[in-house]
Amino acid sequence: MKYVIGVDLGTSAVKVLLMNQEGKVCHEVSKSYPLIQEKSGFSEQDPHEWVEKTTLALKDLVEQFDGDVASIEGISFSGQMHGLVLLDDNNQVLRNAILWNDTRTTEQCQQIYHLVGEERLLAITKNPALEGFTLPKLLWVKQYEPEVLEKAAVFMLPKDYLRYKMTEQIHSEYSDAAGTLLLNIAEKAWSNEICDLVGLDPSLCPPLVESHGFVGELTETFAQATGLAKTTKVFAGGADNACGAIGSAILTEGKTLCSIGTSGVVLSYEETKDRDFGGKVHYFNHGQEDAYYTMGVTLAAGYSLSWFKDTFAKTETFEALLDGLSEVPIGANGLLFTPYLVGERTPYADATIRASFIGMDASHERIDFARAVIEGITFSLNESIEIFRESGKTIDTIISIGGGAKNETWLQIQADVFNAKIVKLSSEQGPAVGASMLAAYGSRWFNSLQECAEVFTAEDKVYEPIPQNVEKYQALFTLYKDVYQQTKGLNEGLKSFRKN
Ligand code: XUL
Repeated sequence: MKYVIGVDLGTSAVKVLLMNQEGKVCHEVSKSYPLIQEKSGFSEQDPHEWVEKTTLALKDLVEQFDGDVASIEGISFSGQMHGLVLLDDNNQVLRNAILWNDTRTTEQCQQIYHLVGEERLLAITKNPALEGFTLPKLLWVKQYEPEVLEKAAVFMLPKDYLRYKMTEQIHSEYSDAAGTLLLNIAEKAWSNEICDLVGLDPSLCPPLVESHGFVGELTETFAQATGLAKTTKVFAGGADNACGAIGSAILTEGKTLCSIGTSGVVLSYEETKDRDFGGKVHYFNHGQEDAYYTMGVTLAAGYSLSWFKDTFAKTETFEALLDGLSEVPIGANGLLFTPYLVGERTPYADATIRASFIGMDASHERIDFARAVIEGITFSLNESIEIFRESGKTIDTIISIGGGAKNETWLQIQADVFNAKIVKLSSEQGPAVGASMLAAYGSRWFNSLQECAEVFTAEDKVYEPIPQNVEKYQALFTLYKDVYQQTKGLNEGLKSFRKN
């Protein structure tokens, strides 16, 4: 039997998955790491920690595996998107990575519009300037830490840095490069035009390969540290959302995914490079060659629930926190939550907005709050679905993965709020499965990712929308959407009181 490993370098943890040729998950190991949040809006991580925790996770995985390590033929990656890692000319990390959920760069987004022009930016990158993307972070470093940028020889994205430490080869690939705001999405090339206009040296951009592209073998040091064979082939990998899509077989037109990790996304496959959503939703290169996807993002999806647990039920498990969730009626007994803990992306690109509980009542218990948090996250994702539907897309079936697919009640809430059939897969680990599939396809086990998906993915259960629930949620959704407008001004006023 032959095997591959998928490494999912997430925001809260790294997960490594060993899958066999029959698409069975044989072992999985996860190691967590913290966010560094020095100020309101800041979110960083130490890249060394990603490498250290991945090494430990792979070592544990190899220890659990009782076969021949040489039969683990390939390894590939799924990575949290947009994060900026800067290396000097000795390939040493120059500062902490600035992550996708860091929103310090509103000023730099304005600079980009000023220097490049909104229309030109959209024409080249298919996306607007959003705080989370990589280019505004580069410009922030240029403005506030010029001595750091002066020393920089190359910038990297999180999983690309990890892969570099395993192979000593520097690359990026299209699905993650698409989230930098420096890639010409249609031409699949770094945009020298944007680099020139914003005053960045194009040589900072790493060479590009396909997601299933072979980049090298493991270094002797990394093989020894993990117990993996040095001959293990390393494939480039993809952005976590592209890998989530691959691992959920979102590989043809008409397929939609809802993925709830730290962030939450609704993503829809696009065959062509030229559909126009006017920047309302993200438009990125897929990890499948020459394909694309559109996507709406809720910044704090699973993060809202883990924040709620860490703040109000630190010592309890998620199962204990959500015990009784199905008995709370729709609307959490009159409590609404908006998940804007770190600002928002879709449909409001707003770094200043913050979360709210509206309608707190003396009778409310903790479980009402938990239900409100879950409903609020789902409403936020429904705003992306609404944009897709308004653009003419038919969304009647959605594959659900991630934390949101682990709880039966939440899956039914998704069916009722989205008014669509929800499909749960036999593994909810979409991005790590997608990474494994890139390694399997890269290793030429299959002729296409689609062929691989037939073996590596399977439907487990379907949740149908219940008409009377759909009706209630439609009424609540109208109220939910009003909360943003009503709290926008209040949050602008509160901004100066935040941790600065
Ligand atoms: C997508 C985004 C997030 C991260 C999470 O644009 O910022 O979904 O990829 O890892």
